[in-house]
Amino acid sequence: MASVPSLASSVHQRVADALASALPEAGAADPLLRRSDRADFQANGILALAKKAKANPRELAATVVGGLDKGGVIEEIEVSGPGFLNITVSDRAIVETLAARAADDRLGVPVNPDAGTTVIDYAQPNVAKEMHVGHLRSAVIGAAMVEILEFTGEQVVRRHHIGDWGTQFGMLIQYLIEHPHELDHKAAEPAAGDAEAAEAAGEEAMSNLNRLYKASRALFDADEEFKTRARARVVDLQAGDEQTLALWQRFVDESKIYFYSVFDKLDMDIRDADIVGESGYNDMLAETCRLLEESGVAVRSNGALCVFFDEYKGPDGQPTPLIVQKSDGGFGYAATDLSAIRDRVGNLKASTLLYVVDARQSLHFKMVFETARRAGWLQEGTQAVQLAFGTVLGADGKPFKTREGETVRLVDLLDEAVDRATAVVREKAEKAGLTEPEIVENGRHVGIGAVKYADLSTSAARDYKFDLDQMVSLNGDTSVYLQYAYARIRSIQRRLADTAPKAHPELPLAPAERAMGLHLDAFGELIADAAAEYAPHKLAAYLYQLASHLTAFYDQCPVMKADTPEQQENRLFLIDLTARTLGKGMGLLGIRTPERL
Ligand code: ARG
Repeated sequence: MASVPSLASSVHQRVADALASALPEAGAADPLLRRSDRADFQANGILALAKKAKANPRELAATVVGGLDKGGVIEEIEVSGPGFLNITVSDRAIVETLAARAADDRLGVPVNPDAGTTVIDYAQPNVAKEMHVGHLRSAVIGAAMVEILEFTGEQVVRRHHIGDWGTQFGMLIQYLIEHPHELDHKAAEPAAGDAEAAEAAGEEAMSNLNRLYKASRALFDADEEFKTRARARVVDLQAGDEQTLALWQRFVDESKIYFYSVFDKLDMDIRDADIVGESGYNDMLAETCRLLEESGVAVRSNGALCVFFDEYKGPDGQPTPLIVQKSDGGFGYAATDLSAIRDRVGNLKASTLLYVVDARQSLHFKMVFETARRAGWLQEGTQAVQLAFGTVLGADGKPFKTREGETVRLVDLLDEAVDRATAVVREKAEKAGLTEPEIVENGRHVGIGAVKYADLSTSAARDYKFDLDQMVSLNGDTSVYLQYAYARIRSIQRRLADTAPKAHPELPLAPAERAMGLHLDAFGELIADAAAEYAPHKLAAYLYQLASHLTAFYDQCPVMKADTPEQQENRLFLIDLTARTLGKGMGLLGIRTPERL
């Protein structure tokens, strides 16, 4: 609290500073300053302070009020209830403070002085498999967290822990060896930046992989001898046999062409160097198991290497162990994740490990984290967190499936979202003066934005319904509502191109201007909260509220027909900062804000 009062900080911070200097004996006590309906802010910290000092809270509150230097940020202050302070700030303070923040590229959002290194595990589809809505959630939430964390100054290392290893590759590779003509089907690597070629290549790659997967699975289930050969192939793969590995690599490469085409469609920047799949930890697995066994953290049970926990029991009351090595010697998902922890803490120097993974894997992560703690790989000062997300539901409230009961292909969903959004954009296109290529481009940004925003605007842990009609609706808590709010400001600014936005702290503010101004003031604090709590939905909610303030502002405060040139400049200043805040916030969520819509 005792930070240096500066104009670049927020009104909120300035009020807190003013309170602190009115009562220096309070030291670093938290004034518990919150926005309030009764005044602009309410400070509740006096109560705790009085209790500690065995003083009368109302008297202490009166001392604070008496000690305040008047004429500063605080315009009015009154003691209420048992010792709360109701505080009204001056219009001048609001505009002045916003102006200082507007002059800053970061919009006055402070850098977290305690920033560390977060290794974030997100966007982790599986090789040779279609991506589904679960992979969408991990990718969308993870990408937003990357941006939000980096904006606060956190060092972020991205890890896409793709499923690129496991017994299913024995079956796939063996099938390929026995059906060599399949090798002729290979999607051409698209040139960088060619979205259409990427899309076509992705489709082709996935259709090849799907065909192989289905055919080899059918053979595996029907033919005992093939099954035996497939299993022997797994052993070859694990032993690093060259031909086997080369074929495995083909599956990985082909899948990556597909993954990138989907990430492209999602307007998401995934880098090859950050894809370190399960296979990336193969060299560490044996050692991980050895260390666990030697330290006694894991024990042999029926031949398998297991870690036991008192708190995790199956329905039969028997303990559910974490199996790090199966009785046949095979390493599983857990051994890989434990090795990844060793790598991320030891080599990447993570202070935080963040996993954006389906809530249905929560038990796995609890056990993995606890095991790593026991083994000393996760020590005090290093935190491991699963940002667990809920299930995507269909309109019927059940896990999202096609009518035939199959998993819905992510690409189909995205295409449909873009189609619907393009129709919405087209309806308004004439009025906005959009050309056909602009309609197409905006349709993409609105459609993809709608899907991302729907995912990000409810708390990650909750399930949500995938409802395209709602997602592209112009009214309500949708991305397109926010995108229109942004574009409308830009349109006003284009019409008033000769007038530069300029803050006028001397002008009195209308209620809607104050409300919007104070909401803008809270941006920095909001970002810090969203980062600390891994809660992108808080940012979404903040932006939606900002757009709602803007709607109220338009009702009460004409910009084109302002009373005076100064008032017009000041209003332009307020909406310009609003547009920049919307644009920045949406950008952090991975959503574009077209200039014309
Ligand atoms: N590939 C997994 C899946 O599709 C998610 C991987 C999550 N990350 C991890 N480190 N286990 O469910």
